[in-house]
Amino acid sequence: MLKLRHNGREIEATERTTVAAAVLGAGARIAGPLCAMGVCMGCRMTIDGRAHQLACQTLCREGMEVETP
Ligand code: FES
Repeated sequence: MLKLRHNGREIEATERTTVAAAVLGAGARIAGPLCAMGVCMGCRMTIDGRAHQLACQTLCREGMEVETP
């Protein structure tokens, strides 16, 4: 199990889980992922300080910091 943070709150995810799935699975209310295949751009998040990353195309890593508006 991996631990990461979403807007400062610790969440957990299994290996090979995308950031979008982890954030949604943790119950976050975000306007977001629509296609889950890198097309719609609806899942853009700030990941480890890098803005506009596609969360549906990014796998979770231990200690990752994720921010959404
Ligand atoms: S959900 Fe569409 S690009 Fe990520």
